[in-house]
Amino acid sequence: MMDRITQEILVEQQESVLLVRLHRPDKKNALTLAMYEGLTATLNEAMQDAQIRAVVLAGSGDSFTSGNDIADFLAAPPQGEDSPVFRFLAALRQFEKPLVAAVTGLAVGIGVTALLHCDLVYARAGATLALPFVNLGLCPEAGSSLLLPRLLGYPRAAELLLLGEPFTAEQALDWGLINGLAADAEATLALALERAQQLARRPAAAVRLTKSLLKRDEAEKLRETIALEGRHFVELLNSPEAAVALHAFATRRRS
Ligand code: COA
Repeated sequence: MMDRITQEILVEQQESVLLVRLHRPDKKNALTLAMYEGLTATLNEAMQDAQIRAVVLAGSGDSFTSGNDIADFLAAPPQGEDSPVFRFLAALRQFEKPLVAAVTGLAVGIGVTALLHCDLVYARAGATLALPFVNLGLCPEAGSSLLLPRLLGYPRAAELLLLGEPFTAEQALDWGLINGLAADAEATLALALERAQQLARRPAAAVRLTKSLLKRDEAEKLRETIALEGRHFVELLNSPEAAVALHAFATRRRS
């Protein structure tokens, strides 16, 4: 049975796997302050709960998430490390158990950068992903300025982060950004859950240690990068360029 952490974060334990769903489908699961807080609390509790051996993060409706809620960026921009978005990123970075993402549809901004912290990522065929930070007058976050060039090489990372052009789940697979595709949202979630169950059946201590060894090389640099990006992000959010771009989205008229 699904439990509601907040109105818009649903969790369900399936054996030793915790399924966490972003559930604000009418807003493409754009992440509000309350949703970040719900996610942070859920991850921190899952870390402490010995019965949980893996976590699956998924969207609802036709989206994974369209990123930070733009109205929240305008009304209550993050101020520093204690802001809900940065506390969520810290919980994600420090999460020691396996994290599997089911990109059930569109993923934008933190919807893509959060994937860089997941251990396995599966996406719906044809899903669109984008990192439009620069187009909004903002800079990368979640350590993506470090992780993306390491993963994809500088030229491709520069294209994605400097131009902010959308790309497809198929391209993401081809580039090694994700692990696999499934035909539709339901199949994507089923695949992610199956892989999480497989992880949950492996010896927990060995899985956890292997994850920490895989991430050891970048751990300290990642912490520093997230902090540095965060300071620049907060400054840029207060810039005139960002104000214009964010207001343009918030007040746009669609025919
Ligand atoms: N913040 C706040 N609201 C958002 C949102 C976001 N990040 N993304 C989508 N929404 C809202 C829309 O305002 C719209 O609300 P409304 O029906 O009350 O007008 C609803 O979700 C549906 O979005 P819509 O734009 O109509 O869908 P679309 O399929 O035409 O476009 C996107 C989807 C994601 C391409 C487009 O909504 C978008 O560009 N969103 C902003 C993404 C973004 O820049 N995120 C921040 C990155 S740092």
